[in-house]
Amino acid sequence: MYLKTIKYTGIGFFIFILCYSPRCSAQDISKKDRDKYISAMMRNMTLDEKLGQLNLVTPMAKTGPFATKNINLKIMDGSAGNVYGILSAGSMHSKLMLADSTRLKIPLINGLDIIHGYKTIFPIPLGLSCSWDTIMIEKTARVAAIEATAVGYNWTFSPMVDITRDPRWGRVMEGSGEDPYLGGLIARAMVKGYQGPDLKNETSLMSCIKHFAMYGAAEAGRDYNTTDMSMISMYQNYLPPYKVAVDAGAASIMTSFNEVDGVPATANKWLFTDLLRNEWGFKGFVVTDFNAIQELMNHGVAADTKEAARLAINAGVDMDMVSESMIATLKQSLKEGKVTINQIDDACRRVLEAKYKLGLFQNPYRNYSPDKAAKVTLTAENKLLAKEAALKSIVLLKNDNKILPLKKETKIALVGNLANNQREMFSMWSFTGDANNVVTILNGIKKQNSNVTFTLGTQVNNDTVFNRKNFEKYDASEQLKMEDEAVNLAQNADVIVAVLGESLGMSGEAKSRTDISLPDCQRNLLKKLKATGKPVVWLLINGRPMTIEADMRYADAVLDIWRPGTSAGDAVADVLFGNYNPSGKLTMTFPRSVGQIPIYYNHKNTGRPYIPGQTEKFVSNYIDEQNSPLFPFGYGLSYTSFSYSNITLSDTLLQGDKRTLIASVQITNTGKYAGEETVQLYLNDKVASVARPVKELKNFRKIMLQPGETREVSFKITLEQLKFYNSSLKYNWESGAFTVYIGTDSEDVKEAKFTWNK
Ligand code: BGC
Repeated sequence: MYLKTIKYTGIGFFIFILCYSPRCSAQDISKKDRDKYISAMMRNMTLDEKLGQLNLVTPMAKTGPFATKNINLKIMDGSAGNVYGILSAGSMHSKLMLADSTRLKIPLINGLDIIHGYKTIFPIPLGLSCSWDTIMIEKTARVAAIEATAVGYNWTFSPMVDITRDPRWGRVMEGSGEDPYLGGLIARAMVKGYQGPDLKNETSLMSCIKHFAMYGAAEAGRDYNTTDMSMISMYQNYLPPYKVAVDAGAASIMTSFNEVDGVPATANKWLFTDLLRNEWGFKGFVVTDFNAIQELMNHGVAADTKEAARLAINAGVDMDMVSESMIATLKQSLKEGKVTINQIDDACRRVLEAKYKLGLFQNPYRNYSPDKAAKVTLTAENKLLAKEAALKSIVLLKNDNKILPLKKETKIALVGNLANNQREMFSMWSFTGDANNVVTILNGIKKQNSNVTFTLGTQVNNDTVFNRKNFEKYDASEQLKMEDEAVNLAQNADVIVAVLGESLGMSGEAKSRTDISLPDCQRNLLKKLKATGKPVVWLLINGRPMTIEADMRYADAVLDIWRPGTSAGDAVADVLFGNYNPSGKLTMTFPRSVGQIPIYYNHKNTGRPYIPGQTEKFVSNYIDEQNSPLFPFGYGLSYTSFSYSNITLSDTLLQGDKRTLIASVQITNTGKYAGEETVQLYLNDKVASVARPVKELKNFRKIMLQPGETREVSFKITLEQLKFYNSSLKYNWESGAFTVYIGTDSEDVKEAKFTWNK
């Protein structure tokens, strides 16, 4: 039925509902038709039905303290218009069908946290970001969307684009690290990957940008803690990836748990109305984070549920995740004149618009098809992409005496609690990942080299301290036996490969740590292994940068493999045996010690900068620690080596805004292996009206070089790249002297200077 032919008012709409269920109608993509359709529907909706659309419920208590009770009844009586966290694909269809029993048969938005893959699991986002490969990252999101929509999901709470400078925060694993520019590119890639070119396509998964805003700046890295920062820092360092994701067309956005400039995000009108909608032009809907409306009372900005819900809708929130505060109180608030029907209508309309754009009115089940799901899930291609992603995310941190790559016939003692554990290749966010399909590190190595023996060697944790309840029980006598066995095994091998680091339960939501080093029991094992005199390759498995400086000396080579996902073992073996030359580059600084945190490359110079080697006391440094990180942003070694020429600039003095500047370098592969290098361009504005960072990433290029090959890489430097927010939050560039840096990481760079005047 063609919608335009239907009159939507009064009896006309009634007939329309009876004769032509809304979903039977073809949808016209134009906004005008959409508005007409939704207006007609809303004219026929009761207040209760409207409030039902603002309600999001869940049967899952994995990411928050409770699940919603009586979900089925709530869906059937229309008081729950949206659901997330139905984990069993089997019950999916029956749940979606429940919406059919409501008067208007309005279909459900059906969400899930699909963070780094649905069944095929890719490396954790922090790992993926180390690939600096936005095309590949987009593909991983596309695969997740194809797999997830085939079982009926239409919404994912991803990407998390929070900038993170504090590795104590367990959620750094869910983001793309510390840089706003790279973070923005990755955010865009993920939104595009999930949503595809048009939300109504059956494999399009609506994305949700999170957590708006500044959640990554939780004080002391303690999850859910307060954030407090200047407006300049918000605009310059934290807001850009959210903005890019909005511009990329993300159809929804989630409030963050923290406060922003003193007002909790979920009640923050400046954030959601002034900035997001009015300044940025966001057209999607806003959902709270888990129970965040109720938590406004704990924050101390609402006295009761009614006030909390009112604050949220006043701020610009459209949908309430599990707190059910809106459905419980907005009717009363409306009666009392504390909220207006327009506010409720606006929120309801935005939710219905998303449903319309998703094509749900046409087909509430969209792509749901068990047959199709079986065909598109965990396919050979998907696993191959998972392998490519794992390969590209691995970062080589150390390779003394070029001990890597290993020869295929090397006799290997593989040691480590996580080395033959399928589930451990995932993260806490892989609720639906299929662990049975995971290639463990042991199995991956075995496929390429049968000369491998394996033992656990250690328990993961020896902590018995309060509040470490997520950690496994520790048995001291068992530990000694495990270590002895590992040492015995090592003695008969040519090389030891030790898989050590964090288990799945040590990073993610509510997994903040004050001590981000290797647990003592694992360190003891590493020491004992080194004492055998055999070369040690350490595969670091982790959800965050860790303070491993002291432990590095017990390993000849260290590969950071993050949490690598479904094809873990295949990827790791390819890197160990040199079928793939590691190319990952860190997107988050590794501190030497926790006391340096927050530590990030794009810091300010300060009035008393410390210059390495100087003896002056009254400078910005520590008396017991260096300023420099263990590994800087952008760092990552290769089996080959690259040399950089000096920078050539097309000009050093430019006037006016019509000019262009080209910076070029010659890069040579000076080693024995073909390798990929990520050439990084940074800029510094020497003198400006506000203090500017010592360096900011502005561009990069990935190039593949054969041994002995030289390539020229040229970057265009634009005025756009020189712009920044001044103290009136105006975004512009200022005349003066600049430095351009090009190099292999944020510290190892060549530099050249230029002046650009207005
Ligand atoms: C997290 C969100 C997540 C939500 C739903 C919350 O606790 O902060 O990132 O999307 O739960 O699972």
